[in-house]
Amino acid sequence: MSVTTATASPPALGFATLEREISVSELPLAGELPPWLAGSLLRTGPAKFEVGEQRMRHWFDGLAMLHRFTIDDGRVSYGNRALESRAYRAAREQGRIAYAEFATDPCRSLFRRVQTMFTASAFTDNGAVNVGRLGDRFIAMTETRLPVQFDASTLQAGGVHPYRAPGQLSTAHPHLDRDSGAMLNYAAKLGPRSSYRFFAVGPQDTRPRVLASVPVSRPAYMHSFGLTERWFVLAEFPHVVNPLELALSGRPYIENYRWKPERGTRFTLVDRATGQSVDGFETEACFGFHHINSFERDGEVVVDLCTYPDAGIIEDLYLDRLRAGKPPTMPSATRFVLGLDNCSVNAQPLCQGGLELPRINYRAGNERAYRYVWGNGGGPGGWLDRIVKVDTDAGETHAWSQPGCWPGEPVFVARPDAEVEDDGVLLSVVLNAEAGNSFLLVLDAADLQELARAEAPHHIPLGFHGQFDRA
Ligand SMILES: [Fe+2]
Repeated sequence: MSVTTATASPPALGFATLEREISVSELPLAGELPPWLAGSLLRTGPAKFEVGEQRMRHWFDGLAMLHRFTIDDGRVSYGNRALESRAYRAAREQGRIAYAEFATDPCRSLFRRVQTMFTASAFTDNGAVNVGRLGDRFIAMTETRLPVQFDASTLQAGGVHPYRAPGQLSTAHPHLDRDSGAMLNYAAKLGPRSSYRFFAVGPQDTRPRVLASVPVSRPAYMHSFGLTERWFVLAEFPHVVNPLELALSGRPYIENYRWKPERGTRFTLVDRATGQSVDGFETEACFGFHHINSFERDGEVVVDLCTYPDAGIIEDLYLDRLRAGKPPTMPSATRFVLGLDNCSVNAQPLCQGGLELPRINYRAGNERAYRYVWGNGGGPGGWLDRIVKVDTDAGETHAWSQPGCWPGEPVFVARPDAEVEDDGVLLSVVLNAEAGNSFLLVLDAADLQELARAEAPHHIPLGFHGQFDRA
């Protein structure tokens, strides 16, 4: 384990297009994999940033590529494939960007814009944010209602999953209902009367069941939500949109949202069983993408989030800024304690230093009091150049880093017979900017000691999220 001074900025290689698709039966491996570790790390991320003469504008816009690292009998195989979404196919066939992405919008008629907004028929299905499993189907997700199914072995896409979120927007961060095995997610239904909605999709379902609907006039940008045993947790940052403007302005999707710090940050708790909501929890304005975890204790609800001072991080992640080496704003980890008796909100730092792309021992700790969070961190003036482990009880942080290397989200995989929360490994795809390739890094989740690394034969653009599917 080593801790280095944060370097300045992410490397341009992290945002360079990868089109090569390969399948390698055994990657060069250094170190030793735990004998119990068997399954596939499935990841998605933006990988194609140009279409013909057109350029994607934002990191989140890139056309998705799927990656598979399969661990079996102490060996690692690897495959990657562009996600054959309709957005990808249209781009390939037409030689231009055909669907509106996060911050890149092809020229469309007013009719087409309104049609897109109110029917979602022309929303992108570019699943570059996260992957998940619904029954025996794997899906690649973005923030629309169109998850794309794929085969976990071949990575071949199989069309959009038949379920449709009950709203035009959704998140790529669903939760698991422990009782039913259903996927729980959020949707925003936009229109003359907009609402935040929560819904469930059972493993074999093709239709969602709406569990709650909360009216809203100016919906906030919502990338994820929290879950406790009783509540859905909405953190409404004051980055909000007028739905009509979204339909008619002609601006790319995210550029219709406005930063309104005077609104503060508002929390809403929605009862999972009844759909009734409790609001009035307000605190200072901040912004964030990721909930870390939420849980209840003695008349309080604890909500842990990765936060930024404002929504400027969205602008920081435009590709021209990233490729120019401008360091994005560092995130913080913040614990918000909501008092149920008096609607109070108490905010405290969860740790020192930055934290993004957080992961926990989900099965053991989600919805419950928990101790550890892993993620990517950095230092002053530096971006996400390390893997960190935060002990939320002790307030301690440990880190792994290597000069010139940029690790992605560390996915926690528990040892099958684990008795403590941090007994397992972390899997992270690390970009080695100096060597020009990426590798799968396997760390002991308890002490961040390196156990093994498997070298991929090409660079993997910096991505967002993935899941481990046990064999
Ligand atoms: Fe995310």
